[in-house]
Amino acid sequence: MDVLSITSEIYPLIKTGGLADVAGALPGALAGHGVNMRTLLPGYPKVLEALGEGRVVASFDDLWGGPARLLAGGAAGLDLIVIDAPHLYNRDGGPYGQADGTDWPDNWMRFAALSWVGAELARGLVDGYRPQIVHAHDWQAAMSAAYLKFGPPSDVKSIVTIHNLAFQGRFDAQIFGELRLPPHAFSMEGVEYYGGVGFLKAGLLSADVLTTVSPTYACEVRTSDFGMGLEGLLGARADDLFGILNGIDTDVWNPGSDAALKANYRTNAAHLRVENKREVESRFGLEAGDGPLFGVVSRLTWQKGIDLLVLAIDDLVAQGGRLAVLGSGDAELEAALEAAALRHPGQVAILIGYDEALSHLMQGGVDALIVPSRFEPCGLTQLFGLRYGCVPVVSRVGGLSDTVIDANEAALDAGVATGVQFFPVTEMALIEAIKRTTILYGMPKIWKKIQRRGMKSEVSWEASAARYAELYMKLVGQAPQDER
Ligand code: ADP
Ligand code: GLC
Repeated sequence: MDVLSITSEIYPLIKTGGLADVAGALPGALAGHGVNMRTLLPGYPKVLEALGEGRVVASFDDLWGGPARLLAGGAAGLDLIVIDAPHLYNRDGGPYGQADGTDWPDNWMRFAALSWVGAELARGLVDGYRPQIVHAHDWQAAMSAAYLKFGPPSDVKSIVTIHNLAFQGRFDAQIFGELRLPPHAFSMEGVEYYGGVGFLKAGLLSADVLTTVSPTYACEVRTSDFGMGLEGLLGARADDLFGILNGIDTDVWNPGSDAALKANYRTNAAHLRVENKREVESRFGLEAGDGPLFGVVSRLTWQKGIDLLVLAIDDLVAQGGRLAVLGSGDAELEAALEAAALRHPGQVAILIGYDEALSHLMQGGVDALIVPSRFEPCGLTQLFGLRYGCVPVVSRVGGLSDTVIDANEAALDAGVATGVQFFPVTEMALIEAIKRTTILYGMPKIWKKIQRRGMKSEVSWEASAARYAELYMKLVGQAPQDER
């Protein structure tokens, strides 16, 4: 079974968030299930550099305003097809925008091109390569399903995975004429969305099957609280919408061998984490203390509830806790966190930026990881936390509610608790959760149990890869196979 995955980011080549982790881990996870996954992605400078020469497998005279080549090759163990189109992708800054955070104005063109090339590949553009399925991630790749639907008939099946409904790829109606779609595609059944063009909407209506990254989010997106305007469409497609929980790459995220840690440790030796904790304290300029060291590794945005965290900091410190924040995002939230750090020197510290190695060290050293998201399609940081014995303190939404078991009396009695959950997603509930965590931390026997139970949680791709494989096989009418 050949599946072409289309994504705008992939770990370890280019990453802004969890999408990259997932796109990077899926091919390896699926290999044991008879699925051969190649990945199509834009030729950003970092990607071309990692790919090296590559093999030219196709070329275009005019891919939205300039010539382009498709390069096939491998990098970091991934089987890639990269679009080398300097006029679209050869830019400093991030995959979606300039260093100051503003989106590239021609993003519609950059990701229409990605999706269009995906559909062409699926139709047999390259000799000897005929994927049966196109698996498109998020709005940047979703249009590939529309190109397949509105182009010449083909038997290629399509899947669109929603990683985050908040990003929909909405543009002015006037770009429609340049999308290389027939006029009737500008309709309710196609790309038209509230009078403009909606890339994700088009994909969600065109794909054969839709998935999202946790079972709870698959339900939530059909409600007006979480559907971001697409709840009606997703409700209508409920029979084709599946929630498959993300896993994590347990080789990249292994506390027993993680090179970013000061001290490696296994489930039965979590006490060794203390060396990592001392290192986190020293990197952040925090004093040692008796209370728990809380950590946050996150985009600093409204989605992630960082404004609530800001409001809870004084209480966190008053209860004897300390806090280390690694992240970047909204300028206002960055400033508010910096102000909190100034108010509480030695107790609260923030490092603004993106630092993969430090994020590993934090998971390996911090006592509890706070994830106060307003919505969370899946969330990966709480999964890393579980595996690393960094107890997650999370809001009860989306994938957070599917992956963490709250340490309530019943769960503690049954020995199944792995973290702390709170709801509603408010300042008061978060403060209450921090208080509860601090109390639990003060009872070392119970705390160790929660930690150990978390470390034993199933967070790998094992089960979910099997579910994707099953879905693929069903789509193309084959019986599932498991080669392991
Ligand atoms: P999202 O994709 O919505 O940002 P996830 O929890 O799914 O949320 O994934 C976030 C990913 O990005 C994780 O791998 C997390 O460790 C990483 N990450 C987020 N912020 C930072 C940061 N400032 N430095 C390093 N890694 C970060
Ligand atoms: C998105 C979501 C996050 C999810 C990630 C990977 O960025 O915000 O919850 O874990 O995609 O699927």
